[in-house]
Amino acid sequence: MGYPHPSHPRETVVLSKYFGDAAARTYDGWMQRGGYQALKKVLGMTPDAVIEEIKTSGLRGRGGAGFPTGLKWSFMPKNDGKPHFLVCNADESEPGTFKDREIMRWTPHGLIEGCAIGAFSIAAERCYIYIRGEFTEPWKVMNRAVEEAYANGVLGANAMGSGKRIDIVLHRGAGAYICGEETAMLNSLEGKRGNPRIKPPFPAQAGAFGLPTTVNNVETLAAVPHIINRGAEWYKGLCLSNPKSTGTKLISVCGHIQRPGNYEITMGFPMKDLIFEMAGGMRPGRKLKAVIPGGSSVPIMTAKETEDCLMDYEGIVARGSMLGSAGFIVMDDSTDMVYQIYRLARFYAHESCAQCTQCREGTAWTVKIMERMLAGKGKREDLKLLLDLSDQMTGKTICVLSDSCAAPIVSGIQKFRGEFEAYMSGARRPALAAV
Ligand SMILES: Cc1cc2nc3c(=O)[nH]c(=O)nc-3n(C[C@H](O)[C@H](O)[C@H](O)COP(=O)(O)O)c2cc1C
Ligand code: SF4
Repeated sequence: MGYPHPSHPRETVVLSKYFGDAAARTYDGWMQRGGYQALKKVLGMTPDAVIEEIKTSGLRGRGGAGFPTGLKWSFMPKNDGKPHFLVCNADESEPGTFKDREIMRWTPHGLIEGCAIGAFSIAAERCYIYIRGEFTEPWKVMNRAVEEAYANGVLGANAMGSGKRIDIVLHRGAGAYICGEETAMLNSLEGKRGNPRIKPPFPAQAGAFGLPTTVNNVETLAAVPHIINRGAEWYKGLCLSNPKSTGTKLISVCGHIQRPGNYEITMGFPMKDLIFEMAGGMRPGRKLKAVIPGGSSVPIMTAKETEDCLMDYEGIVARGSMLGSAGFIVMDDSTDMVYQIYRLARFYAHESCAQCTQCREGTAWTVKIMERMLAGKGKREDLKLLLDLSDQMTGKTICVLSDSCAAPIVSGIQKFRGEFEAYMSGARRPALAAV
């Protein structure tokens, strides 16, 4: 539902059905709502059969990249005699994204069930849930739910009486954006500095503690019990446009919008209807100027580009951006685009782990150049310089944080060039004091 607002009639409420329902957080409450039936069913299946079901459903990773989940699970080695791990990525630090937090707050047992099914399917006896450091309440709720799951025999040496061991260990991060990147997360889990690793080897070959590991996002794993309970064909049928994008998607809508919140849509839902119908549209007297649809790391879209855009992986790419983590940042005509892009660049410069020269230097210089511009001291060649810098920052580094800083700069200059030029020409008053 559009939590904290009541559900909108055009939402497809699956993952968010119990958002706001405090009783669903407890083991007893979850059991009364059909909880742990999917895990029970899975424990009587073969791991390969579960992986096939997830492949058929078309579920793709909800952490940002949209990689097919069943395929990812199938990459884990078989009968290699080594311990395997599942790591649930609950870091959620992408600006504008706040859906995993709500899943953990309201349906902790649903996530535990998804994690246990995932662990069973990849022959892992242990799943780590890596929770963002600042998530105090979700951490408490998850902690209580894990304790209840052990007390009721769902987890442990004989999970649901199956004779199989499934453990879940909660691990609290220290609040670094880069620790959401899967290999940085694995380093952090091992007690090291959260620096991304060079791939290959991929986590399925050498992940946590050098052993085969799968990393999945909270929303991805929370969808799994629903697929097992209702069938892959049902999930596959949740699709309004493109058969490559199936299921429901939680969209975290924030910014200049009447009803910010998490809206659960069927893949392929029109972006325009999400903005103006579900989320209530603009504030009185304001017009839509731009959106960033996938968390701050994706290209900015103009109001015109949102008009006929369908919200799924391919639909947003066709309009020049990406679904990403579906943190949907709305900006109205009061927005100073140059200043907002500068704020994003400052975030990436602060969060860069600094291993790669292009990222460490590129994000820092982007901020310096933009500060100069915003202080009314911009030079004629600064736009070209920013674009050259962005080019050097794209596709050349260990992880894509560097590309993420470049994306709003390049799309911002392409689509709102006049606003940058106004700062250079003096037509716009400086927004920052000169340094
Ligand atoms: C800089 C950076 C930050 C990321 N942050 C997150 C995050 O907070 N949560 C998340 O699930 N994935 C995040 N990802 C994506 C993960 O690396 C990984 O692809 C994802 O957890 C895989 O799960 P999925 O296949 O279920 O989407 C991030 C990636 C990068 C490059
Ligand atoms: S791109 Fe940036 S954040 Fe990613 S590994 Fe390189 S320096 Fe670190």
